[in-house]
Amino acid sequence: MQHTFDVLVLGSGAAGLSLALRLPEKLSIAVICKDVLHENSTNYAQGGIAAVLENDDSFASHIQDTLIAGAGLCDPAAVKFTVENAPESIQWLIGLGINFTRGDDNNYHLTREGGHSHRRIIHSADSTGRDLEETLVRATKNRSNISIFENHVAIDLYQRDGRCLGAYIYNEAEDCVDAFSAGKTVIATGGASRVYLYSSNPSVTSGDGIAMGYRAGCQVENLEFNQFHPTCLYHPQAGASLITEAMRGEGAQLKLPDGTRFMPAFDERAELAPRDIVARAIDHEIKRLGIRHVWLDISHKPAEFIKGHFPGIYQKCLDLGIDITSEPIPVVPAAHYTCGGLKVDLNGRTCIDSLYAIGEASCTGLHGANRLASNSLLECLVFGASAARHMLAAGIDRPQRLVPPWDDSRVEKAREEVLLLHNWEEIRRIMWNYVGIVRSFERLRRARNRIDMLKTEIQDYYSRHRVNRNFIELRHLIVVAELIVDAAMKRDKSVGLHYNIDCPA
Ligand code: FAD
Ligand code: SIN
Repeated sequence: MQHTFDVLVLGSGAAGLSLALRLPEKLSIAVICKDVLHENSTNYAQGGIAAVLENDDSFASHIQDTLIAGAGLCDPAAVKFTVENAPESIQWLIGLGINFTRGDDNNYHLTREGGHSHRRIIHSADSTGRDLEETLVRATKNRSNISIFENHVAIDLYQRDGRCLGAYIYNEAEDCVDAFSAGKTVIATGGASRVYLYSSNPSVTSGDGIAMGYRAGCQVENLEFNQFHPTCLYHPQAGASLITEAMRGEGAQLKLPDGTRFMPAFDERAELAPRDIVARAIDHEIKRLGIRHVWLDISHKPAEFIKGHFPGIYQKCLDLGIDITSEPIPVVPAAHYTCGGLKVDLNGRTCIDSLYAIGEASCTGLHGANRLASNSLLECLVFGASAARHMLAAGIDRPQRLVPPWDDSRVEKAREEVLLLHNWEEIRRIMWNYVGIVRSFERLRRARNRIDMLKTEIQDYYSRHRVNRNFIELRHLIVVAELIVDAAMKRDKSVGLHYNIDCPA
């Protein structure tokens, strides 16, 4: 089937929906998501959104904290641009009706997270992402110019003469591939943390947009910087649910099995050191002591305070038999955020005409070698707005030439799902063991060899079989794995999130 729109937005998280909502109603916009509308990282965000909102805080301080976390590899212009546009983004959300938490004085409550020298994280208790996504989804559904395509999986971009004309998209319900043509195409497909075996992310984050953009000829940058969140719940029935860093911001302490704190020995900022330092310290202690997890303890705080600030985590843990008001929480690090991605300018433009990338799929230069907590949702909102502004200024003309129909007449239906499942697991395990929190050249070389073999298998399978969601994601995932390993091998210093025991800091 053929579809034509003014703007094609791939992704329905904070980045994609905020861009769609910032565009005027006279434009026809398609929002594509490979699952249901709200299933994305945005929806699971806990801590909040960083912004300078009080007089005793300053842009200079937020900028400085971001640059320090980024370990010298941020683009200062991108940092300044994001930080200075943050208050407007927060006001825009308040205008859409978001329900940020207020303190006893009825002002918005600002919490604190690692690496921030001020309380500047605005939040909705411990489920900011759900409130944010609900707010954006509600506004989107009220806009008749925005058409939503759920359970549609983007396979590849289509370009002619250096201009992106749209994309091929698999329609799961109809089991067919549709051609979407548009004046402007936006990659807002989120990060790639599911390339790792253990991740805090929902299953949609398989790096699809990064892989599609790369295949189309976009530049990628900083993909060796994969952020591991230090505190994910360790429990057989919990997956890798996050325990927000804001809990450490409010006084929670990391402890060994004998109850002693260990973070002060690693960094003077202790539990509030940037998360690469905290994650490596936990990894070190787990390996040194041969334990499965460490403990995060907030039980010294009053029960009412804990339940008031962390209602979602309190309930989730209680359902699993852990009462966090009286006992510590078992935690481990897990892959959380992709700092690198498709290289873009301050308007979210890639190097391909009419193709933009925003949100976690992009690399704006804001995060450098390590993202400061709660700067990510902010980046989605700020660049959603700037990309929309740029498109309008540049003019949105529908292409004369449409994306031609997809031809799969020469391939057969995929019939051995086990091959795909096995490849999935193999990639994620290789990445976890060899390209994780701590790396070495030996491990990276091993990872590269295995990825080469898997790539050949997947390409061969692709040339003979029809696509399905699992298969499309796998084809994207292997590209991202390869890009991460290559970037890690090229980096000859340990910096920020990239820690290679063979390289000096
Ligand atoms: P997402 O919200 O992940 O959305 C991606 C969208 O792309 C989805 O709709 C998906 O369906 C779609 N998609 C992907 N591939 C395809 C495809 N092939 N075809 C069609 N559609 C596709 N950041 C903060 O700043 N503060 C926090 O407190 C915070 N807490 C977090 C807690 C958790 C548990 C997690 C996982 C992340 C957290 N983050 C936080 C990070 C932040 O949530 C994400 O970086 C941000 O939400 C990314 O938004 P996005 O719009 O770029 O992508
Ligand atoms: C958290 O709440 O700890 C996550 C914050 C973030 O990823 O920015």
